[in-house]
Amino acid sequence: MEMVGEARLTASRELVWEALNDPDVLQASIPGCESLERTADNEFTATVVSKVGPIKARFAGKVTLSNMVPPRSYTLTGEGSGGAAGFAKADIEVSLDALEPTVTMLRYGVKANVGGKLAQLGSRMIDAAARKSADDFFELFGKQVNDRAEKAAPVSNGATFDLSALALTAPTETVQTAHAGASHPQGSGSATEKPEPARQAAAEPVHAVHTDTPPAPPQTAPSPTTQQAEVMDVLMSEKIKVWISDQIAVVTLNRPASRNAMTYAMWLAIPAILAALDRNPDVRAVLLTGADKDFCAGADIAEFEKVRADAAQATAYEVAVDACCDAITRLSKPTIAVLRGYCLGGGAHLAMSCDFRFSAADAVFGIPAAKLSIIYGVKGTRKLLSLVGVSDAKTILYSAQRFDAAKALSIGFVDRVAGLANQQAALSIWERLLGAKTRPVQGGDPMAEARAFAASLAGNAPLSIAGAKYLLNGMVTGTGGLDLVRAEALIAAAAASDDYREGREAFAARREPKFQGR
Ligand code: COA
Repeated sequence: MEMVGEARLTASRELVWEALNDPDVLQASIPGCESLERTADNEFTATVVSKVGPIKARFAGKVTLSNMVPPRSYTLTGEGSGGAAGFAKADIEVSLDALEPTVTMLRYGVKANVGGKLAQLGSRMIDAAARKSADDFFELFGKQVNDRAEKAAPVSNGATFDLSALALTAPTETVQTAHAGASHPQGSGSATEKPEPARQAAAEPVHAVHTDTPPAPPQTAPSPTTQQAEVMDVLMSEKIKVWISDQIAVVTLNRPASRNAMTYAMWLAIPAILAALDRNPDVRAVLLTGADKDFCAGADIAEFEKVRADAAQATAYEVAVDACCDAITRLSKPTIAVLRGYCLGGGAHLAMSCDFRFSAADAVFGIPAAKLSIIYGVKGTRKLLSLVGVSDAKTILYSAQRFDAAKALSIGFVDRVAGLANQQAALSIWERLLGAKTRPVQGGDPMAEARAFAASLAGNAPLSIAGAKYLLNGMVTGTGGLDLVRAEALIAAAAASDDYREGREAFAARREPKFQGR
């Protein structure tokens, strides 16, 4: 008998891992478990009363934990004899995926065998009993974990994000980032948008600045010192959170009461944050998302009176927006926007600046510039055009109407809608001819899908991904958009890299390559 399942737990992965290794929690979670006592580091004796159909028996046996990869996975093997009832053995592969600092996806696969009288009951009855035991186990385990999570200290923001790693630049500048010894391609593409060396922050340490007042209205681009203070304020006040786990960095816009609307300071902060993530060799992909229900309802209109009141301020504001979105586009690592709820205006520009957009079924999109007498910027309009084509771009911009996730998928605005029962590509020819609509199902989680996809990219050669990204970004901007000299230099650098040798050696040795990005 084999089965798989998953449970979404509201607790950090570390806490769930601890619980999976705690005999008290296991005893309280295994249905009918009367005793569970540790006999060795990863071994326990157990007594479990179990009922399968008409047979009820007390099983005595042992539980072994093996293949330990803390805090990610292990194999739990339970085997026991129920006397005349027969025997049972189950191997349960458990893996934990950290979706968010306090959300963990637990996945399990069970392989079970029974013998003796139990085996005579027939597979349907045994399968039903096993499924019920698994459901009961994860319900009880979830309760135990929840209780512990409530008592545990809150997970601190950006525990693994080193604020001193911030590279601060004025918003008019592009950001050049590179791992030691390797040049990283940047560039959203036009000939005038070639990467330049970053201006590093002054040598003195970065000081945290707490302030409740919004940044001064920009007449011109702010000085690096002003920007530094604003970036620190955005991070210290957690308007943007950064969390790194399993080589994936999650950047979360965190103003849920304002539907994560972007303040001027937040536009300024993102390039510096991304530059730090680009330099961090432990980060292989970056996800951009919004806290709570929404991705982002665009620019913070409430502060427009202060920071975007006249033409001069509007220009400085647009410079900051473009610098932010360019920084996302130019990041040498794959980026995925994880979209829930509203994704409007400047929020759409942020999402379009990422390599991929993974949406929840309930997401709502739109560019309401025509409702505010704003012309959507050149770069945002270009990105929209390259994603959806001219007709849909005109519809979106002229009408300022919102559209749902299914529509966004059908016009190419998003790449995936989590949990969609029949993604467009999977529709049969008849369904397509009859114009069948994609149908969302409950339970799809764009973050889970985005993390799984990002993890699948993380093992590939960073130089290949960064190079492909540079070439494609340059090509989609049209004639003259790609700096061919730089493109050829990147291709040559990849051919001379250690990773290239590693790729060939791994192929010859029939093993997985270990890429370093150089
Ligand atoms: N800027 C500033 N605040 C915003 C905001 C934005 N872009 N979008 C939403 N908010 C705030 C609202 O003012 C409200 O704050 P309040 O509770 O202090 O009054 C809060 O977020 C919740 O929004 P609300 O409008 O009450 O929710 P809703 O469900 O009725 O509507 C939206 C949600 C997103 C459709 C609506 O808020 C909206 O149209 N926002 C503006 C979107 C926009 O034009 N973006 C482009 C900007 S260039």
